[in-house]
Amino acid sequence: MDLVITNGTIVTASSISRADIGIKDGKVVQIGGEFDPAARTLDAAGRYLLPGGVDVHTHVDSVSFDTQSADTFETATRAAACGGTTTIIDFCQQEHGGTLAEAVADWDSKSVGKAAIDYGYHIIIVDAPDAVIEELATLPDKGITSFKLFMAYRGMNMIDDVTLLKALDVAKRTGALVMVHAENGDAADYLRDKFVAEGKVEPIYHALSRPPRVEAEATARAIALAEIVGAPIYIVHLTCDEALQELMRAKARGVTALAETCTQYLYLTKEDLARPDFEGAKYVFTPPARSVADQELLWKALADGWLETVSSDHCSWLFKGHKDKGRDDFRKIPNGAPGIEERLMMVYQGVNEGRLSLTQFVDLVATRPSKVFGLFPQKGTIAVGSDADIVLWDPEETFTITQGAMHNAMDYSSYEGRTVKGVPKTVLLRGKVVVEDGRYVGAPGDGSFLKRRKFGA
Ligand code: URP
Ligand code: ZN
Ligand code: ZN
Ligand code: ZN
Repeated sequence: MDLVITNGTIVTASSISRADIGIKDGKVVQIGGEFDPAARTLDAAGRYLLPGGVDVHTHVDSVSFDTQSADTFETATRAAACGGTTTIIDFCQQEHGGTLAEAVADWDSKSVGKAAIDYGYHIIIVDAPDAVIEELATLPDKGITSFKLFMAYRGMNMIDDVTLLKALDVAKRTGALVMVHAENGDAADYLRDKFVAEGKVEPIYHALSRPPRVEAEATARAIALAEIVGAPIYIVHLTCDEALQELMRAKARGVTALAETCTQYLYLTKEDLARPDFEGAKYVFTPPARSVADQELLWKALADGWLETVSSDHCSWLFKGHKDKGRDDFRKIPNGAPGIEERLMMVYQGVNEGRLSLTQFVDLVATRPSKVFGLFPQKGTIAVGSDADIVLWDPEETFTITQGAMHNAMDYSSYEGRTVKGVPKTVLLRGKVVVEDGRYVGAPGDGSFLKRRKFGA
């Protein structure tokens, strides 16, 4: 035995139990019972032992809005580890006119030897001539079993319905899951340009130009296209009642339509975009933050099982230097906000507030995303045979979130000044302690690429 964790309370998606955990060669090899002598013992008295968090929506080291993100794999994944996340699935983005092999090679050059935690890729396709569609079909065998397409951002990432249909067809044939950014890009652009023509250029108009129906229309259309082809579909960052209604209706008629929400939609509202002194720009992401009523519905949908997970959609655009570009025109503000480190702590407040049970929390931040994206039971649970990705969580400790305490390369936190109760203290990645009592003690390259299984396999 390399390591035994004693005195902790193990929490999985289905049970809460007091037992010791034995770890060897990076795997959990024993739960409970008598243990052989171990090289090291960790006392977890007063701690929950949670499976490491799985964040299936991150944009690490990427370029968008002509801007290079502040975070690299080294900084973003170090921050993730400190927040109790031990696996991410990052978006590997095709260049316009580029091949998918080039995109994967590009992402490998950013991630290999740099990541603090394990990681997989989804592929983003922005152009899909026949050769790219053919290439897409080869990715699932390489462990890249999800494809993402954007229904918004014309001139940048937006694809048309035919491309989405082709991708859905390939996904169905090859065992992949298509993920969509569901917003009607033309409607958003139309409203946006109209505001700017009227001199309405402040960040709040980002939210006002992307009302809930912009999202709901594309959600319904994406689901309908998936249904027409007979493929499963996953809606990223679902934010509002209108889109949720479309998802529920699709599920009710038997479509395999899955969706996530993100931390920011549970805590931020569109009023945050109206903060003075251009501070609203920090909260410019798409779809925009909504209302308190939508937040309530999202929490309920999480508790009732309608949504698969809460991901971070981590983007690292600096307030000073990146978001600034849109001071005179909100259309130039890079879209996105950070949250890879804060995610578990923020979602856990739902447990403190009685919105989620402890097991539901684990299910939503670790187990279900692992299942949907082909990583379970290697990731997302604590069981004999699983990777020993374990978080020693202190449910009693309080912590006030400030950017200064975060481990990424950002200059602001989306949750600055909020006090949380319940924090990750010690984090193991495949049995190696990478965070010890809140201090990062891992190294770049601790994390490895994960080849994921096909959808439903
Ligand atoms: O505003 C956001 N969410 N930016 C990141 C790209 C995306 O749409 O997921
Ligand atoms: Zn192009
Ligand atoms: Zn998106
Ligand atoms: Zn995103």
